[in-house]
Amino acid sequence: MDQTNIAPPCLLVIMGAAGDLTRRKLVPALYAMHRTGHLPASFAILGTARLEMDDTAFRAAMRAACDTFGEAVTDAEWASFAARLHYQTGNFNDAGAYLALAVRIAELDARHATDGNRMFFLATLPSLYAGIAAQLGAAGLVHTDPDGPFSRVLIEKPFGHDLASAQALNHALHEVFREEQIFRIDHYLAKETVQNILVLRFANAVFEPLWNRQHIDYVQISAAEHIGVGSRGGYYEESGVLRDMVQNHLLQLLALIVMEAPLNFTADRVRDRKVDVFRALRPLIGEDVYRDVVLGQYAASADGAVQGYHREAGVSPDSITPTFAALKVQVDNWRWQGVPFYLRTGKRLAQGCAEVVVQFRSIPFCVFGEEDTCARIAPNRLVLHIQPDESVHLEFATKAPGPGIAVDTARMHFDFQDRYPDAPPPYQRLLLDALRGEQLLFNRSDGVEMSWRFITPILEAYADHPGAEPYAYPAGSQGPVAADTLIARDGHAWQPLGGA
Ligand code: BG6
Repeated sequence: MDQTNIAPPCLLVIMGAAGDLTRRKLVPALYAMHRTGHLPASFAILGTARLEMDDTAFRAAMRAACDTFGEAVTDAEWASFAARLHYQTGNFNDAGAYLALAVRIAELDARHATDGNRMFFLATLPSLYAGIAAQLGAAGLVHTDPDGPFSRVLIEKPFGHDLASAQALNHALHEVFREEQIFRIDHYLAKETVQNILVLRFANAVFEPLWNRQHIDYVQISAAEHIGVGSRGGYYEESGVLRDMVQNHLLQLLALIVMEAPLNFTADRVRDRKVDVFRALRPLIGEDVYRDVVLGQYAASADGAVQGYHREAGVSPDSITPTFAALKVQVDNWRWQGVPFYLRTGKRLAQGCAEVVVQFRSIPFCVFGEEDTCARIAPNRLVLHIQPDESVHLEFATKAPGPGIAVDTARMHFDFQDRYPDAPPPYQRLLLDALRGEQLLFNRSDGVEMSWRFITPILEAYADHPGAEPYAYPAGSQGPVAADTLIARDGHAWQPLGGA
C-alpha cells in the first residue's frame, strides 16, 4: 500500500466511548482500517466514558458493534484488532479522572510505541466539549511544541448552537489547541461524491466557463431523508433542521458549488474560498426570513402507518421544532448576482436522496420554427447525485429519429459505484486524514462562525415570531406545499423526490 495511506503511530483517545457514535461509526471504521492495512502496528485506541467497564467488556461491546454496524468480522482479525483496544472509566467533569487518564496514556504510549502522538476524539455531549478541552490542557495531555509529537482534537457537530456559542467554543479550544490541531468534522465533506464537486469543476475545462450567472439559471441543493428522528428525539428537539442539516451540510455543499478556484488544493487555500462564499451570502433578516425560508414538521403519513414527529420518543407533544427547511439563498458577488440557490432538507420525505441540480439558461432563440418543437427543448441540466445514487448526469437535447425535427432530452451518465465499488465510507476517510494531519475535509474556525452568522438571524426570526409554527407535511410526502410556493414564485419547481 502507498505509505501516504497508512496512519502514523498514534494513540486515539475516544472521549464518550460508551455512546452511539463510537459503536455505529468509529470502531467499525477503525476495524475496517485495521483490516485493510491503514493502521500501523504502533496504533492503539483508548475509549473512555463514565460507564464502568474494563478492557474485556469494552472489547466484547465493540465486537458486537462491529458485527451489527460494520463489515463481517473474522475471529483471527478481531483478535489482532482487539489487542489495540483499551478502556478507562472516567467522569469528564472530574479533574482527578484526567490525571488517571494521563497515567494510562503514558502506559499505552510505551506499550504500543506510539511516539507520543495522540488524537482525542470528542464523541460526548457537545455541552462538554469546552470543559474537556480545558481539562486535557490542565492535565498536560496536549503537546504544544509544533516540532514534537502531535496532539490533535476531533470534534463532532454540532459545533455551537448559534453564533455566540460557536465563537465561545472556538475561544475555549484555542486556549488549549492551535488551529492546526483542531479537526471540526462535517461528514458530508468526506463523501466521495461531495469531494468530486471540486474535481468536476476544477479538473475539467468544459464546466467552469459556464459556471456563472451568464449561463446558470438557478441551482437546487437537496438532502432529503426518508427516515424520521428515530431515537434521537431529545437531541433533535434542541437542534431542529436548521442546526442539524442546514448550518453545516447544506451550506458546505453550497460553498463547494459557489466558491472561486482556490490558489491551490491545500486545506487553507480551499477553506479561504469557502469562507468567501459565506461572507457573500445575502443575509436573511427580519421579514425576509418569512418570505425566503419555509419550515415544516412531519405529521403522520396519509395512511396513518407512520407516526408524526409529535409522537416520537423524547419529543414534546406541542413541539414546534422544524424537521424540514426550504430556503432561497442569494450570493452577492460578481459571479452569482441574480442566481437563486434553493436549498431543501427534511426528514420523513418521499425518498432519501441528496443531490445538486444545476439548471442552465434556456437557449436564446429557437431556430426550428415549429412551436411544438421549440416547446420541447428543455434547458440543459447537470445533476450531481450524492446519495443513494452516486453519479453525475448531464441532460441535453437530442433529435428523435424520424422526418422533420423532433427534440428529445437525453442523458450522459457517469456512475461512481460502478466504476469505484470499493470507495471508503466517510468515517474511515475522516480518521485517516486527521491522523495524517490533513485538514482539507475539516472546518476552520472562521468558516464555522461565518455559517452561523448566516443561520442565527433565521433562528432568531422564527424564535421571536409567535405565529411561525412550521407547516405540517405528511410523512412520506414531498414536504409542505409552502416549499413549492417558495420556488414557484420564481417560475421554477423542485426536482421531485422519488421520481414523483
Ligand atoms: C447528521 C444529522 O449530521 O446527518 C442527522 O445529525 C442526519 O440528523 C445525518 O440524519 C444525515 O447524514 P447522511 O450521511 O445519512 O445523509
